[in-house]
Amino acid sequence: MTLPDRPFLRAFGDSITPPPLWLMRQAGRYLPEYRKLRSKVSNFQELCNTPDLAVEVTLQPIKRFDFDAAIIFSDILLLPSALGQDLRFENGSAPRLAPALRTNEDLACLHEDNYLSCLAPTLDAIAITRSRLSKETSLIGFAGAPWTVATYMTRGDSTGDTRAEAKLFHYRDKKGFDRLLDILTRTTIAYLEKQVEAGADAIQLFESWAGDLPESVFRECSLKPIAAITKSLRKKYPALPILLFSKGSGLLQKLYATETDISAISIDAATPLPWARDELQPRKLVQGNLDPYVLLAGGAQMESGIDDIMKHLSGGRFVFNLGHGILPATPVEHVERLVERVRGYKP
Ligand code: CP3
Repeated sequence: MTLPDRPFLRAFGDSITPPPLWLMRQAGRYLPEYRKLRSKVSNFQELCNTPDLAVEVTLQPIKRFDFDAAIIFSDILLLPSALGQDLRFENGSAPRLAPALRTNEDLACLHEDNYLSCLAPTLDAIAITRSRLSKETSLIGFAGAPWTVATYMTRGDSTGDTRAEAKLFHYRDKKGFDRLLDILTRTTIAYLEKQVEAGADAIQLFESWAGDLPESVFRECSLKPIAAITKSLRKKYPALPILLFSKGSGLLQKLYATETDISAISIDAATPLPWARDELQPRKLVQGNLDPYVLLAGGAQMESGIDDIMKHLSGGRFVFNLGHGILPATPVEHVERLVERVRGYKP
C-alpha cells in the first residue's frame, strides 16, 4: 500500500508549512448544522448507524473549514454495543453499557460471531465519505484503545472515577480482565482493518482514561494492547499512519513512542511543548495540543496559544489539533479564526 498524495499524509514523512490541521470532535454540537440534523433523529446511535446521515455530519466541518482531514462520525462505544452490551447515551450523563462486566463469568454476554455486521453502517459511511471527499482531504478512521473501552464496559451505573471498576477487575482477577482486553484487542484489529479496506487513509486510537495508572498497570493494560494492535496493522499496512491520543498519560507517553509501532502521538494540553519536541517528535509525528477551553474563550490568549504551539512544533513532523475534543459551547467564529491563524502563521 502506497499512500495517496494528500497534505495530512505527507506530514508523516516530513515537516510541512503550514501544518495540516483538523480538530478532535470537529463534527458535533458546536455546529448549528449538526444540531439541526441531530434534532431530527431520536438518538445519537441512529445518527451513527444511518450511513447517509453519518456521512453528512462527517462532511459538515470540512465544508465549513476545509480541514485537511475528516474523521468518520461514529463512537468508540459502538464496538462493545456490537459485542452484545446494551448502549445508552442519556443527555447530560456519561454513556452507559449494560450489563456491567466485573467478573470473568460476566464476559459470557459478549459475542464475537456477528459484531462486524453490526458495525457495517460505519464501514459503509467510510466508503461513501471517501468517495465524496476531495483528493486533498484525508479520511481518519478510529477506535477506542482496549483499556478505555473496558472502563466503560465495566462501569455500569457507578458515578465515581471512570477507571475504578476496570482497575478493580484487573487487581482482583488479572486473568479474567486480560481475557476482556484480549477480546477487545482482537476485535479492534479486525474492525480497523475493515475501516482501512473501506477507505480510511489513517487510523486514530483514543485512550482517554489511561492517566493515573501505576506504570506496571499502564504497561499491562494500555501499552501492551496498543502495541499488539499497531503491530498487527503495521504487518498488513506498512505505510498506514496510526495516531494515538492518550489523555493524561504525561511522561509515560514516551513509552508509546519507543515501544510501539504507532506513527504519531496526539498530545493533550498538559503535555509540555519543549518535552514533546525533544522527546517525542524525533521519533514520531506530534499532533496537538491547543486547550479546547482557550478555543472556547478566543481572543488574545487563543492567538498566543496557537503561536506557541507553532513555534515549538512546526520544525518537525507536526499536525495542528486540540489537546482534547472541541467543546459544544465553542463559537464557530473562534474556529474560523484558528484556521486563519494556523494557515497564515509566519515564523
Ligand atoms: O468528530 C469526531 O471527533 C468524530 C466522532 C467521535 C465521537 N466520539 C462523536 C460523539 C469520536 C472520535 C468520539 C470518541 C470518543 N467517544 C471518546 C474518545 C475521545 C474523548 O473524548 O476522550 C470517548 C471517551 C467517547 C465516549 C463518549 N461518546 C462519551 C463520553 C460521550 C458523551 C459525552 C459527550 O461528549 O457528549 C459520547 C457521545 C458523543 N460522541 C457525542 C459525539 C458528537 C455527543 C452526542 C450527541 O450529539 O448527543
